Amino acid sequence: MNIVIFGPPGAGKGTQSDFIVKNFNLYQLSTGELLRSEIRNKTNLGLKISSLMNSGHLVSDKVVSDLIEKFISNDEYKNRFIFDGYPRNISQANNLNFLLKKYDQKIHLVLKLSVSLDIIKKRITGRSVCSICGKIYNEFFNPAPLNAQCCASKFLQKRSDDTLDIAIKRYETYETKIAPVIDFYKQSNLLKVVNGEAPITEINAEISGLMETIKG
Ligand code: AP5
Repeated sequence: MNIVIFGPPGAGKGTQSDFIVKNFNLYQLSTGELLRSEIRNKTNLGLKISSLMNSGHLVSDKVVSDLIEKFISNDEYKNRFIFDGYPRNISQANNLNFLLKKYDQKIHLVLKLSVSLDIIKKRITGRSVCSICGKIYNEFFNPAPLNAQCCASKFLQKRSDDTLDIAIKRYETYETKIAPVIDFYKQSNLLKVVNGEAPITEINAEISGLMETIKG
């Protein structure tokens, strides 16, 4: 099964993808994470995109498409994808369909996590990620366990684009591009809207139910 999960910054795409990976043996393809890895590794691409990402704008469609095709073309992941943060505009939605068709795959479910801007501000400014295991926390809603070994506070890191100003810009970028993507998936009857403001475990359960229905 291939799933698309989208929603504004801080909607919980990564949090829910973690859950799906663990419980349904899918592979999370996060375009944000792929791009951050280029920046961490100081590749030529990483050097070019770093200021763009820290201004809340999208990286070019071509760059992101080239990155994801490497995975979509790999048989190891065939029909096991969670596309986290891709597509973000209509050209990416068309491109994803094109690539999936090229490698004899399709999308089975599209999840849209809905969250208001007020909540997003706290989600983003309160977020930290464990640099050892990658687990996502939030100082307001979902704090790291006290006395944890792996996720101890010294290992928790903030993302450079997680300031309030950049979060608002990222939200605006999302809002200006996403409407045609929503229509696109509505027309193909794949779209399920999930209340992203519910507690994490409730959303886990709702997504599990949707996936079980599709697995039949
Ligand atoms: P990306 O890394 O994808 O960032 P984003 O879309 O802004 O989403 P986030 O990762 O910030 O949030 P999330 O929805 O995963 O939330 P999370 O689970 O962490 O992209 C970054 C940048 O890369 C983009 O701005 C762009 O420049 C570039 N880029 C990426 N993809 C691109 C593309 N396709 N094309 C072009 N450019 C691209 O949760 C957030 C916080 O909330 C956490 O602290 C978590 O603990 C907490 N939380 C989660 N769920 C809940 C809940 N239900 N209740 C309470 N707290 C919760």
